[in-house]
Amino acid sequence: MITYQKIVEKLKKLGISYQEIDQTAAKSRSIDDLVSVTGMKYSEGMSTLIFRNEYNQYVVVLRRDDRNVINKEIKRLSNSKSLNFVEDKDLERLGFEQGLVSPAILDELQERFSLTILVDRKVEEMQSVICGIAKDGYALKVSKMDLFKLIGDNYVIADITVANEKRQTGVKKIILTGDTPSGKLHIGHFVGTLENRVKMQDEYETYILLANVHAYANYYEKSEVINQNVYDVFLDNLAAGIDPEKSTIYLESGVPETLEFYSYFLTMVTHARAMRNPSVKDEIRYKGIDPTLGFVCYPILQAADILQFNASVVPVGEDQLPVIEQAREIARDFNNAYGNLFTLPEGLVGRVARLVGTDGKEKMSKSGHNAILLSDDSETLKKKVMSMYTDPNRLKSTDKGSVKGNPVFIYHDNFNRDVEEVKDLKERYKNGAVGDVEVKEKLFKALDSFLEPIREKRKYYESRPDEAKEILVAGTDRARKAVQTNLVRFKQLMGVNKLID
Ligand code: TRP
Repeated sequence: MITYQKIVEKLKKLGISYQEIDQTAAKSRSIDDLVSVTGMKYSEGMSTLIFRNEYNQYVVVLRRDDRNVINKEIKRLSNSKSLNFVEDKDLERLGFEQGLVSPAILDELQERFSLTILVDRKVEEMQSVICGIAKDGYALKVSKMDLFKLIGDNYVIADITVANEKRQTGVKKIILTGDTPSGKLHIGHFVGTLENRVKMQDEYETYILLANVHAYANYYEKSEVINQNVYDVFLDNLAAGIDPEKSTIYLESGVPETLEFYSYFLTMVTHARAMRNPSVKDEIRYKGIDPTLGFVCYPILQAADILQFNASVVPVGEDQLPVIEQAREIARDFNNAYGNLFTLPEGLVGRVARLVGTDGKEKMSKSGHNAILLSDDSETLKKKVMSMYTDPNRLKSTDKGSVKGNPVFIYHDNFNRDVEEVKDLKERYKNGAVGDVEVKEKLFKALDSFLEPIREKRKYYESRPDEAKEILVAGTDRARKAVQTNLVRFKQLMGVNKLID
């Protein structure tokens, strides 16, 4: 009897409700064609892969179509040294035509052949499964529970796959970003990265890290200060528009698994490579510090922050790009050594890579005392704006002034939504027809209305510390769960605990 008929009979006998999906419109039997023709998602499909090992035993792997198998794991679990895809004559022996394999008769095949069945854990997460029914142009759709009825009791469930990057349609990509808390955030942070985070949280699965462990590398003895700074950064993120319903905001030290990743990553980076990192070198020079080991290695901790989630996008300031490069190297080296586990992350710099400070000299930074904070009240804001540095060569309001590189106009460009007003001010400034005071007063008004909703939100959470804490506790819990799964996989791939597992 041909296999397809056998399957239909079995489905009926077991009283399984099923659907036969018409895929005859597809050009070929390849999954890619089936997906594009039927509009199904890769994550809804499951393939039955059949291998043969060196003892001529069959190893059958059930994996979701948006995943790739980790060959090493398959070999380990099936005690095989070499594994090859079966040839057509093998398939025939098992009762299948080329490319028309079905999991629905695996129990019966197991009685007749030496056959190991490995089921990827991700299959367990499926509600229903679209798989082969051994008939050209058709697929079988059954509930996951019924699939397990069909394959019998003799199988092993294990983590044997990694994401197939090319087949991630419909699955949200992951963003991870964060700040080493050094106090309240300023408008430079907003245009540099906060704005991106807020925009992208709808489209991506977003994790926002409060990097308190990183802060210890700067001043380990100042725990109180660090905690205060963390809280400020936390509130500023919420105030800027991070929605705790959409994004996961978490405390770095609340996910100790990160430090486990970090320990292994430290073994993968040479001392010379760590010292060569431009972000590290620049910061040491700029801050004039005698760096701790923790400081020199902070990019490696950051790699752990990022890779543990398999984040593919990391919104950061421009100065952090060499740190992302380090994370990519670690990911690549690990993948080369142990199989594809990590996604290679990309840095994403905001629309303004480096916002000048109110002094017009340095990049805006809290320690540079040239920052406008997101939490500044109107009065403070006014003082800061009215004493801003402008064109030093312009002594009187009738002197022709320079707009280019002038911090007052840079801020107008970035924060004043009244484009006409900005155009007019620039014209008059260039012609010596406007005073600094008017330019600054208009800037104050623009910034004040930009900051107003941010201050409001901050106040909301400041006056509801229990609600704020709940957000952080829940976020840390969610982040930790996501990371734990990845750490297990990481250690399994490396086999670190092989002797005691
Ligand atoms: N080092 C980053 C900074 O100083 C903060 C940070 C820590 C971070 N871990 C991260 C940023 C992971 C992005 C991703 O701003």
